[in-house]
Parts: sequence; C-alpha cells; structure tokens
Amino acid sequence: MFSIRNIIKRYNGRAVLDDVSFTAEDRKITYILGTSGSGKSTLLKTMIGAIKPDAGEILFGDMDITKQTERGLDPYRRKIGMLFQQGALINYLNVFDNIALPMREHTTLDENIIKIMVKMKLELVGLRDFEELMPSQLSGGMQKRVALARALALDPAIIFFDEPTSGLDPIGRSVITKLIADLNRLMGISCIVVSHAVEEALRTADRIVILYRGKVIAEGTPQEIRQSPDALVQQFITGNVEGPIAFRASSKDFGEDLLVG
Ligand SMILES: Nc1ncnc2c1ncn2[C@@H]1O[C@H](COP(=O)(O)OP(=O)(O)OP(=O)(O)O)[C@@H](O)[C@H]1O
Ligand SMILES: [Mg+2]
Repeated sequence: MFSIRNIIKRYNGRAVLDDVSFTAEDRKITYILGTSGSGKSTLLKTMIGAIKPDAGEILFGDMDITKQTERGLDPYRRKIGMLFQQGALINYLNVFDNIALPMREHTTLDENIIKIMVKMKLELVGLRDFEELMPSQLSGGMQKRVALARALALDPAIIFFDEPTSGLDPIGRSVITKLIADLNRLMGISCIVVSHAVEEALRTADRIVILYRGKVIAEGTPQEIRQSPDALVQQFITGNVEGPIAFRASSKDFGEDLLVG
C-alpha cells in the first residue's frame, strides 16, 4: 500500500530522516518504533502530506504523496484518519461537536445522520454517555479515545496514530491497543502506529520498523525483530541502558559545550 523510498528530511542542515525506506501493507498493523527524537513524528507527517521531504518518494498505490499539491492530496486525505501526539481535541467544543466537526466540514450530511454517526463512533470507543462533556472534563485516556472517535469520523481506510498510548495507565494502554487491533481485524482498517511502546508493538503489530537517528535499523515481523542479532535492535527492545544507543541528543562533548558556552 505504502512504499517509502529514500526519504530525507533536514532541519537546519541536520538530517532528521536520513534515507528512510520501508513498506507498509494494506489492512495490516505497522508499528514504527524508535527512541525519542529518532524522527517518528516527522516521518508520520511526511506520510500524511503535512510536510514535504527534501528527497525521496512516498508511493501510495501509484501516487507519490510528496509530489502532490494541497488540492491533489484531497482525495487521499479523505481516506485517512490521524490521531496526533498532542493537541488532539478542540477545547471549546464538547465531545459530540469534536467528533461531528469533520463530518460537518467535509460532508453535506443531514444533522440527524451526523447524530447517529457520532453515536456509533462513541459506542465503538466505549464512551457513548459522554457526548456532552468538554475535553477538560475527561481523563487523558478518555481524551485519546474521543480523538480516536474523531479520527474515525469519515470512515477512513487508513489511520495514523502518533503515540496513542503514551501517558496512559496500564489499563488505558491495553484499551487503546485492543481498539487498534479491533479496528484492524474487525473493520479491515490499515493502521500505522508510531510508538516507543516495544511490548505493545511486539504483541500487536504485523510488521515493525525501528528508527534510530533518522535511519531504519530493522524491519520485519515481531518474531524477526525479537530474533534480530543486531546489538542496537536488542538494546532497544530490551530497554537496556548499556549498549550502543547513546541517550544524548547532542553530538558535542559536554565539557566542550560548557566551555564554548
Ligand atoms: N519543525 C522542526 N524544526 C526543527 N527541528 C525539528 C522540527 N520538527 C522536528 N525537529 C527535530 O527533528 C528531530 C525528530 O523529531 P520527531 O518529532 O520526529 O521525533 P520523535 O521520534 O517523534 O520523538 P518523540 O518520541 O519524542 O515524539 C528532533 O531532534 C526534533 O527536534
Ligand atoms: Mg513524536
């Protein structure tokens, strides 16, 4: 479905995505894993056409998403839903209106139909009785579920999730992870999930891509990833502090940095 080929994205001369290539299949769950700052959100934003890479192609069928104008992206955007890492809901709209918003903006559906559709989406995420509440009256986990209901508003064929379980308690994480699996298995929705939750990915994904410093260091089934002989991959999936992964974002020596000031 997606063929990502040699994507490069630079900010201030630094390659945040450095020759990234992988594929994501139709009707499958693909997890993109990586430490903080490895370029996951940037990669997702290039895949939805929100930012243009400096080089490379993202083929969706035979359309290159990176070469489209805003107008050219319209039909594609109608097929996708996106759950953002931050700022998922509109603060001054209640739950109902948040979910109804994409329907009101992108369709000419009658309000009565919209009402039924919103209720169906809320039922799907297990929040049917909460439509009158404002986002500030919801827990973090509930906010993520409402945001998911909104991502589902236009019945997308593909949903992109950016850290859907971060900041949630273990039950909240399981609820979201199960929802992702259900959307995929019961409704055939393709799911592209950016995360650093290794265990969830190993349990849920059909395919896993691991990013490290803007490069793909591993790609395969959970089974293949578990058995990878690569020291970087093993350190990442076991969460070991000792290993080749450096946890500092700066490439400069700390002492040098202090002196130069
Ligand atoms: N608009 C931008 N301008 C400059 N630098 C940016 C911009 N967007 C991202 N970056 C840099 O690119 C790098 C990767 O950022 P990105 O948000 O893709 O990481 P991530 O893997 O999603 O991290 P996290 O797990 O913490 O969400 C970071 O060093 C970040 O500072
Ligand atoms: Mg991110």
